[in-house]
Amino acid sequence: MKGKLEQIKKEFQKEIEAVKSLADLEILDNKYLGRKSGALTSAMKELKSLAKEEIPKMGQLANEVKIFLTGEFEKTKKKLKSQDQISGSFDPTLPGTEQPIGHLHLVSQAIREISSIFEHIGFQRARYPEVEWDYYAFEALNMPISHPARDEWETFFIDQKPINKKLGQRILTPHTSSGQVREMEKGILPIRMMNISKTYRRQIDASHSPMFHQFEGLVIDKDINITHLKGTIEYFVKRFFGENREIRLRPHHFQFTEPSFEVDISCGVCEGRGCKLCKEGWLELAGAGLVHPNVLKAGKIDPNKYSGFAFGWGVERSYLMKSGLNIDDIRLLYKNDLRVINQF
Ligand code: PHE
Repeated sequence: MKGKLEQIKKEFQKEIEAVKSLADLEILDNKYLGRKSGALTSAMKELKSLAKEEIPKMGQLANEVKIFLTGEFEKTKKKLKSQDQISGSFDPTLPGTEQPIGHLHLVSQAIREISSIFEHIGFQRARYPEVEWDYYAFEALNMPISHPARDEWETFFIDQKPINKKLGQRILTPHTSSGQVREMEKGILPIRMMNISKTYRRQIDASHSPMFHQFEGLVIDKDINITHLKGTIEYFVKRFFGENREIRLRPHHFQFTEPSFEVDISCGVCEGRGCKLCKEGWLELAGAGLVHPNVLKAGKIDPNKYSGFAFGWGVERSYLMKSGLNIDDIRLLYKNDLRVINQF
């Protein structure tokens, strides 16, 4: 038996060296390890008929030969495969492997769409700091320190001593309105700004994420009045949400606009008749108003010569309203779960 096994190994070594193709290798595999009549397989079947005390020793030897053969097959297979690739036996008519292609996050898609809509009517895209000074977020917007109106913007404060009195504390900007006076300070008039940035507020629940995005329009020119504000928002709403949507302005209060409004749009589900989603046919969309003279003054613009309007609202909220998506938790947008992201 021992001689037989050694013979098999020897013959096999000679034969495998001569193998030149994967097809030949397969024939050889069958010749030695084939289930029915492979040389080694048959020898192993004969083990049973040996004397009892011989079986374990011979069994071990047979196994070693088998491991050796299998290893050699694998090695030769790999070698032949890589040779195949190098020698160019590549078939260009076979279908290629599809490469996975990513896409923009739905919030980025929304931002691009919003800026492009406003670009058509002359708004220039701007971005102002996410880590901002108290001055630009509040003080310059007619909300002096300790003014109760500030509470609405549940703000994150940075633990750092103010570098000067005017700028005050460092914060994470709670709204894109902080870009208004920064834009005015550039000193170029007229202004048509579209500031889309990240904003932060200390609120987290199904409809609030502590980080979200807002887009803010600011127009400063001579003789600007409410009709310009209304026309601009109407233009945007029809382009973004659809021709059939209407808007309405509802009186409201902001410290940095006078008069101030909240903007509602007619509900897309019931078209304004009233349904479960909207109750009375309208959905609340945005804050807006005519720029307060104190804000113009902070931006070194003469309120007797110039006037302007501003509006601002959430990107995520608008996107969800547009798509009719019934996402019951806004935080899903930022969990990076591909099962969600890949749907858009
Ligand atoms: N900044 C306000 C907010 O975050 C919205 C607003 C923008 C209101 C511009 C008036 C003018 O709620």
